[in-house]
This record gives sequence, C-alpha cells and structure tokens, in this order.
Amino acid sequence: MSSNPIGIFDSGIGGLTIANAIKEKLPNENIIYFGDTKHLPYGEKSEKAIRDYSLKIAKYLEKKKCKIIIIACNSASSVAFDHISKEISSVPIYNVIDPVVNTLCDKFENKKIGVIGTKATINSGIYQEKIKNKTSSKVFSLDTPLLAPMIEEGFFNQEISMSIIKKYLDNELIKNIDTLILACTHYPLIKKQITEYYNNKVKVIDSSSITAEYIKAELQKKKIINKNIKTSYKFIVSNLTESFSKSASYFFREKITLKEVDIWK
Ligand code: DGL
Repeated sequence: MSSNPIGIFDSGIGGLTIANAIKEKLPNENIIYFGDTKHLPYGEKSEKAIRDYSLKIAKYLEKKKCKIIIIACNSASSVAFDHISKEISSVPIYNVIDPVVNTLCDKFENKKIGVIGTKATINSGIYQEKIKNKTSSKVFSLDTPLLAPMIEEGFFNQEISMSIIKKYLDNELIKNIDTLILACTHYPLIKKQITEYYNNKVKVIDSSSITAEYIKAELQKKKIINKNIKTSYKFIVSNLTESFSKSASYFFREKITLKEVDIWK
C-alpha cells in the first residue's frame, strides 16, 4: 500500500505546482499526475461539467491503485470535492482549499482576506464560507480569469504580466486587504510579482507547500509514507500539444515528458 502512487489531478498543467511541492516534501512518493487538457479551462465551465470530468478522472486514478487522490485544482476542489468524496469511498480524497483554511485559520483572526481565482472558484463562494465558519476575518473576492491562460502562455515576471496583475489588484473589491490567497494552482508562478505589487505589505499565500505539508502529515497519520527510494513519476494529459509539453516544465520546475491518455474515448 505505501508504495502505491499518489494520484494528483488538475484541469491542465497548473496542478503541477502542487505535484512539485509534493515531490519536494515527499521525495520517496510515486506520483501519477493527470491534466485534463482536453477540457480546460474548468474555471469557465458549469458546476455539472466540472463535477462530471473530475469524477471520471478520480475513478481512473482509483483504478490505477492510487493510495490517495489530490484534487490539485481550485475550480474542481470548489465544486466537485463533495461529489467525488461521496462517489469514491475506497480512496481518501483531498482538495487544495481545506489545507490552506485549516492551516492558517489561527492567523486569520480579524484579518481582511482577499481571494483571487477562476470564475468557478470565486462564484462557488467556498473560501468565503469556509473562512467565515472558522474565524472572524472578512473575505473579499475577485475572479481573475485572464491570469491562468496568461501564465500558461509564459507571461510572468515581465512587464505585460505586471500590467494585468495591477489592473486586477487595483480593483476596489479587494483594495483594502492584509492577506491575499492565491486560489488557483497556476498562481504560484506570479506570486513574486503579486508580492512586489503590494510592496511586501500584504501577506500572499499560495496553496502548494501548505497542501504538501498537510498531505505529508496525513500520510504519516495513516502510516502509508513510502520508504522505498526508487520513485516513479507519470505525467498524463487528455490532450497532448507542443505548447502543453513546453509549459509543463516550468510548472513542475524541471523537464518532464507528458503522455496522452484519453479516458473519454
Ligand atoms: N488550475 C485551475 C484552478 O486551480 C485553473 C485553470 C482552469 O480554469 O482550468 O482553478
């Protein structure tokens, strides 16, 4: 059981930031990553479509004997986590929202927290609901749909990306905050620019290392940490293109090879 892989999935390649953090924190774990590049962006889809796609992928990872499954996508975590958890009982399912909210809730007391993410994530109201249930902090949210495709095209750490970031963060809706949650798995790549925009005056939180730390504690609790040091990583996408292959490497921070498997055939 311990040597069974960790299943990780996302709408595309953004979730590789989570896979990378898992690799860093848990270097002995085998990983199967599934990016649903055929159906991305999830952030623009209906809740039903996101739930259907996500469940199909989770069932595929269950068949691959994954010991746990991580939904490395905020859009799918927002609207499909309960659905998948209800439908699949043999494998523990994790999302990328609870680790952030649970780990940081102590620090969230009386804060003014901004949340940015896709339309699906923001419209679900899930961060607002979960944070309000745990703390007295106020939550201000804004959908920032241009950011994920911008990053995927390689526009980060440059002037053009700063203009778009500035345009969004200047918005009155999230103007007076002291903490900002990056509620999209693409956004760790622009964390530096966002921190710069705020002149380090706002605490910027991304879910990748928090989720990896949380998963490590869960594996320890369940006594299913892999001790064997021979690891294998598989990176699967539902639609393989040259541009996904190219950008996958900067999300995972090393050169990787994607393989196409169409589970919808
Ligand atoms: N990875 C998705 C998320 O974290 C963003 C991309 C998409 O819309 O599919 O929300």
